[in-house]
Amino acid sequence: MKPNYKNWMPKGMVGSFAAGTAVVLALTLIIGVGWLKIILLILTLVLAGVTVWTVLMYRAFSYDGKRQMSRQIIDGVAEYVILPEGGRCLDVGCGSGALAIAVAKRNPKATVTGIDRWGAEYASFSKKLCEDNAFAEGVAERTDFAQGNALKLDFPDGTFDAVTSNYVYHNIPSRDRQVILLETLRVLKKGGTFAIHDIFSKGKYGDMQSFVKKLKELGYERAELVPTDNGRFMSPWEARWMGLSGSALLVGKK
Ligand SMILES: C[S@@+](CC[C@H](N)C(=O)[O-])C[C@H]1O[C@@H](n2cnc3c(N)ncnc32)[C@H](O)[C@@H]1O
Repeated sequence: MKPNYKNWMPKGMVGSFAAGTAVVLALTLIIGVGWLKIILLILTLVLAGVTVWTVLMYRAFSYDGKRQMSRQIIDGVAEYVILPEGGRCLDVGCGSGALAIAVAKRNPKATVTGIDRWGAEYASFSKKLCEDNAFAEGVAERTDFAQGNALKLDFPDGTFDAVTSNYVYHNIPSRDRQVILLETLRVLKKGGTFAIHDIFSKGKYGDMQSFVKKLKELGYERAELVPTDNGRFMSPWEARWMGLSGSALLVGKK
């Protein structure tokens, strides 16, 4: 049995844009000359452009494709998660289990918990998919998956030896995403490591340099922001056309 990590660009979204383009194109062809036809023609072009973009994103992220960007990012984030023997890690927004499983494979004496909201926007991800993937990768006994919310984690302070997350928090509507980061770091033990990958642009997170400074003032041993849109995980050009500019890893030790 092979794992199936699905795709960060949901197939349903690609299909919806393609179907929308076809419907608007059909209406454009049916309607005679006039303003409405021009408006529909413009809408067709816009929708066709978005459809092409979603297809290119799907191909770049695919675990079976040539680029395999998702695999590269997951492996790159997992490298930063170092667990002691018997240690526990939390992966927030685990999706299809890819990062939780990669961490479990790299740390054979540790256990990993993945939590996710598994809402409608990522309908192909589920608890069952995570469990099947963990089984396929031979780490089912050292991983567990549960429904949870990044905004309010169901764990006491200092539960985990490491916390990790990949491309989750920018998806969560919030006026202050630094609060979400603090909620994740709350469940990390003193001396534990963190590796959080996301789009840390000013627009999405505010001033992250001050956040890093604040962590140090709070007594964190180490905290730094490592850009990944500079060729580390993706080229600057890829980051731009894919809307991933500002991607970086927030790493350190509490
Ligand atoms: C782009 S996917 C990334 C999945 C996974 N981290 C990976 O790297 O493959 C974003 C994930 O965040 C999850 N998510 C969104 N909002 C969440 C929340 N408030 N709490 C927990 N998970 C959430 C989604 O359900 C989805 O699985």
